[in-house]
Amino acid sequence: MAETETVTFPQNRTCPYHPPTGYPSESRGQQSVTPVRLYTGRTVWLVTGHAEARSLLADPRLSSDREHPEFPLFAKRQAETTQRRVELIGVDDPEHNVQRRMLIPSFTVRRTAALRPQIRATVDTLLDAMVEQGPPADLVNAFALPVPSMVICALLGVPYADHEFFEAQSRKLLRGPEASDLEAARDALDEYFRVLIERKRRDPGEGLLDELIVKQLETGAVDGEELVRLAEILLVAGHETTANMISLGTFTLLQHPEQLALLRAAGAATGDDAGPGMPAAVEELLRFLSIADGLSRVAVEDIEVGGVTVRAGDGVLLSTAVINRDESVYPSPDELDLGRNARNHVAFGFGIHQCLGQNLARAELEIALPALFERLPGLRLAVPAEDVPFKPGDTIQGLLELPVTW
Ligand code: HEM
Repeated sequence: MAETETVTFPQNRTCPYHPPTGYPSESRGQQSVTPVRLYTGRTVWLVTGHAEARSLLADPRLSSDREHPEFPLFAKRQAETTQRRVELIGVDDPEHNVQRRMLIPSFTVRRTAALRPQIRATVDTLLDAMVEQGPPADLVNAFALPVPSMVICALLGVPYADHEFFEAQSRKLLRGPEASDLEAARDALDEYFRVLIERKRRDPGEGLLDELIVKQLETGAVDGEELVRLAEILLVAGHETTANMISLGTFTLLQHPEQLALLRAAGAATGDDAGPGMPAAVEELLRFLSIADGLSRVAVEDIEVGGVTVRAGDGVLLSTAVINRDESVYPSPDELDLGRNARNHVAFGFGIHQCLGQNLARAELEIALPALFERLPGLRLAVPAEDVPFKPGDTIQGLLELPVTW
């Protein structure tokens, strides 16, 4: 790979809802596939063009296998951790397809729609508690985190009573700060699910995990350790991501009052169904915030893309945040416009690994955001916007806290 003047990856955002200003971007006349430098000094490719990203994410010559020796691990804590197999998200086809097909029936539009009354009830209970407690509150802890956490627990059949434990482990898994935190969290979650699965074998419940025990584990289609790791992926991916969308989405809307007015109108809803404009509003928030920035792959064959040759063994990172601001696809990309058609964004990825939980995440956002602003019409920040702490660039993007009052 040509050694040119390269910027570093990852960088922190300077505003929690805009991509880092130092990343290359086509909108500034730069190439759509450019070299960037990791903290180790290694140079990998960063993809920032929408067309190039979709073609690469659909390309079987890119692997998601974390155990591949050249897989680009951009956070120091990840690179210093002993790599192990990551189910589903870190598995290539054809094996990936077998795992995915096992889970798809639980995440269809229809199955997710059936969960809407339960999501609505969860949202209402949490808002009742906020009202009863009175202002101020940290919206992350009081609302943004418990909504998806409760929903994924109910779906999987994981006891929500254990939420403080697994939320703390997820935080360590995704943010460290040390490699030892990550490894300890992995071990703790492994043990937690081993015990839970054993308990469920003796005393079955109603969740997806119970279903997988009967249909996949007892039949020998998966072994115990694979099921443990699958459960971990579902639990962690199922709450951390959506929690960040709810808190960062709320903050962003509060900073864009005219768009918030549109959301209130769009969400003037009808029980647990979304108001007519909500699906489009949520797509735009997903595009605009692109919280899962920096998807990682390693090339297993040479690939010509965006005027460069990605060689077998090269690392490839995709900045969903910059890709979703490609102005050839989204005019005035840096403007939040809830009325626009934001379809085809890559906030959920693209290709075989496209987010399994996207229907669930959409349902949660379509219900939680309008309900929050309807129930607390005076909702506002309790501190200056610049004092709201947000997450560093090497993890899922979002807010550490969101102090609010109403
Ligand atoms: C707004 C919230 C969410 C965002 C932005 C998001 C984003 C993503 C992205 C970008 C990927 C692709 C990763 C890659 O290609 O390397 C992904 C995959 C995945 N997501 Fe989500 N996600 C969200 C919510 C959820 C929820 C609620 C679940 C529930 C279980 C979930 C489960 C998964 C799983 C299992 C995968 C791996 C799929 C596969 O490899 O086939 N996600 N997500």
